[in-house]
Amino acid sequence: MSGLGEVRANRRIVFHGLGALGVAAALAGCGGGDDGSSDGDDVASGTQLTTTDEVPVGGGVVLTDQKIVVTQPTEGEFKAFTAVCTHQQLLVTSVEEGTIHCANHGSSYDAATGEVAGGPAPAALTEVAIKVDGDKILTD
Ligand code: FES
Repeated sequence: MSGLGEVRANRRIVFHGLGALGVAAALAGCGGGDDGSSDGDDVASGTQLTTTDEVPVGGGVVLTDQKIVVTQPTEGEFKAFTAVCTHQQLLVTSVEEGTIHCANHGSSYDAATGEVAGGPAPAALTEVAIKVDGDKILTD
């Protein structure tokens, strides 16, 4: 009888242990800058964002993990900005014909400067310093 009791107790301990680990993992997952203030500034210097062939001339790529948009306004000239729209802090959605678009409410920004080009956005996108190393685009 007492043996059965011990097994149950041990199982309970095991379950508690897993529960605690799950909570720890969830907390750790929240520490990655999902606090609404992240705007690309917390990406470590030297982090590879993308490669030059991924970024079309006049267009760009929105990196949702890093919350950075990388553009190529003219051939061979690469720029990066926070991808967090200044309107309601949602991520911008696309880059076409030299303009960064936020389809959430229709804001647009100049893909060369980050300046507001239209829509409800109250301020420009902050530029993120990058460097190009061969075909790699890295944070500076
Ligand atoms: S969040 Fe971008 S237009 Fe509203």
